[in-house]
Amino acid sequence: MKKKIQIAIDSPAASGAGTQAKLISKHYKLFYLDTGKSYRVLAKEYLKNKNKINIKKFKDKLSNLRIKDFSNKNLLSSEIGLAASYLAKDIRIREVVDRFQKKIVVNISKKYQGICLDGRDITYNIMPDADVKFFLTASIKVRALRRTKELRKNGFNVSINEVYKSIKNRDKSDYSRSVAPLKITKDAIKINTTNLTIRKTFLILKDKIDKKIIL
Ligand code: C5P
Repeated sequence: MKKKIQIAIDSPAASGAGTQAKLISKHYKLFYLDTGKSYRVLAKEYLKNKNKINIKKFKDKLSNLRIKDFSNKNLLSSEIGLAASYLAKDIRIREVVDRFQKKIVVNISKKYQGICLDGRDITYNIMPDADVKFFLTASIKVRALRRTKELRKNGFNVSINEVYKSIKNRDKSDYSRSVAPLKITKDAIKINTTNLTIRKTFLILKDKIDKKIIL
């Protein structure tokens, strides 16, 4: 059986990893999973239940989840993003989410050539043996601008200032937490997308992937 391709992308919030992961997945016929959405789904549940953490409920929520639930636009809000970042520090929650994501990695449908995941701990925890690993970054100003545009396009009435603050808070929390912090691994290719267009970034990633894998 031909080995499935694994592409892992880690990045701080709003660095363009999701956009690139989707483009890569389309190009190489890979299954795409936005891993942040698993935390966001639980964050929505957490806020709905008056900030209560119920591990059993969270487990059930993930096992009943369909991939199309990931595209729910409500999940994009800064409030849910911050709550997701808060929950992501909890080791019990990470265990539940890890199991959910690792199961997806080993059960990819035959119609895909492999899988592409983006998140915070993909390169060293969820897919430590990935064929190609990327760490995308961009200046916080550019990230705030991009996320503001995305949120406004999806109907959220937000100011760049509040988005900037929310991203800054999440950076702090994601880089400094004691469990599965955001970090760059030695084998990851670091790309700063601050001054790059979506197309240019994609071509850089594609070039690196083509050099590492033969389809
Ligand atoms: O990527 P996204 O902004 O949707 O992620 C929301 C939050 O979920 C992040 O700020 C981070 O705290 C958490 N997360 C994580 N590990 C991942 C993906 C997301 O801890 N693999």
